[in-house]
Amino acid sequence: MSAGSTQPGNPRVVAAQLLRQLAAGRSISDLLERGLNEVAPRDRGLVKEFCFGVARWRPRLEKIAGELLSKPIKPKEGEVQALILLGLYQLIYMRVAPHAAVAETVEAARLLGKNWAVGLINALLRRFQRERDALLARADADPQGRYAVPGWLLKRLRNDWPRDWESILQAANSHPPMSLRVNLARTSREQYLAQLTAAGMAASPIPHVSAGLQLEQPVDAEALPGFAEGLVSVQDGGAQLAAGLLDLRDGQQVLDACAAPGGKSGHILESAAVELTAMDLDRRRLKRVQQNLDRLGVTATVVQGDSAKPQGAWAERQYDRILLDVPCSATGVIRRHPDIKLLRRAADIPALVKTQGQILRAVWPLLKPGGRLLYATCSLLSDENEGQVGRFLAQAPDARERALEADWGRTRKVGRQTLPGEATMDGFYYACLEKTGQP
Ligand SMILES: C[S@@+](CC[C@H](N)C(=O)[O-])C[C@H]1O[C@@H](n2cnc3c(N)ncnc32)[C@H](O)[C@@H]1O
Repeated sequence: MSAGSTQPGNPRVVAAQLLRQLAAGRSISDLLERGLNEVAPRDRGLVKEFCFGVARWRPRLEKIAGELLSKPIKPKEGEVQALILLGLYQLIYMRVAPHAAVAETVEAARLLGKNWAVGLINALLRRFQRERDALLARADADPQGRYAVPGWLLKRLRNDWPRDWESILQAANSHPPMSLRVNLARTSREQYLAQLTAAGMAASPIPHVSAGLQLEQPVDAEALPGFAEGLVSVQDGGAQLAAGLLDLRDGQQVLDACAAPGGKSGHILESAAVELTAMDLDRRRLKRVQQNLDRLGVTATVVQGDSAKPQGAWAERQYDRILLDVPCSATGVIRRHPDIKLLRRAADIPALVKTQGQILRAVWPLLKPGGRLLYATCSLLSDENEGQVGRFLAQAPDARERALEADWGRTRKVGRQTLPGEATMDGFYYACLEKTGQP
């Protein structure tokens, strides 16, 4: 739909417009928030599938498109490039009848006023159909084409996970399950499972976490029984490990120093009657923390601040527990956010590592002697994880690791890591640090 029009848009046209903006650095979730309003409700699932699917497979689709084009599409023609990738995506990964996929994609070019590209897209997609097996075999011949992964990330994963990088990349391209956290302060996992079953939503317990359920089929969160009343939240099983690792006790002072959108803050408050300060740099995201806590019926001191430069009332206190769920590459959650492959650049990693180190060093003095700090990321990269915590331990004489003895994930030199897809979880890293001295 063109801007300002009130007619519902053609799903392929809208998807091409969104994919062009995605290539220019916007995130899928931001884009879909507004973009989905441009199509009829019945087409929303399709536009989502187009955007997520093309983002997931983009490096592979681009490799194939590159072989079929005699010269690259000009950067200013981002919608045409997006339609080519979308056409290939439908032909390779969707159950749309091939002739319909080609005809509808060509029609979208026409609707976008790209008449010059109509013949090109038609010929390219038809040639793909004729040469499909050979083109797919060539794309599969190297890991970048096979797993649709940018070169810099492939290099890092091979280095950090020499035995697991292929299964990690396979899992990163899979569709994630919808995982739930039952509010154990209000009900039990068994009782909530029974409510889901009665509502016709099949689910099963997630291993290693006491409140986790995995739905067989995703649904809108609002459709979950008791969602508005805070009986349940949507949260990956790996993320649900954090609250347990903090070993919370009633009455403790707890700081969640990178709290937004508040998933782990909510779980902390469901787990024990603690006094929580939920802090984040991003004011807009902090609103979501408050909304999440309101829905759960729990309270915290929600404050805006920079955990790399503690200042103000929250920084003048000391805490029994600190959760440091630092900003990271998010390479452990690519299956949920495939646009990460496109949005992250190799140069982002050293910058993130620097920020994480600053936050860790700045927040450490706020921990009481005898207190615990849980360092967490949804990254798979050792520089952000065991490398980061290892460097900190080497220069903080009052810090020692409290080893995580667990039956989930993999032991690292410091801390533990879940890998995407294992035990239904996303890829999370956790390291627990204790401050020496008497409480
Ligand atoms: C991985 S997310 C936290 C997710 C959250 N713990 C949850 O479970 O919902 C990282 C958060 O760190 C915040 N952040 C980034 N730099 C920060 C800083 N210097 N101080 C405080 N928060 C920061 C980001 O705004 C982002 O919300």
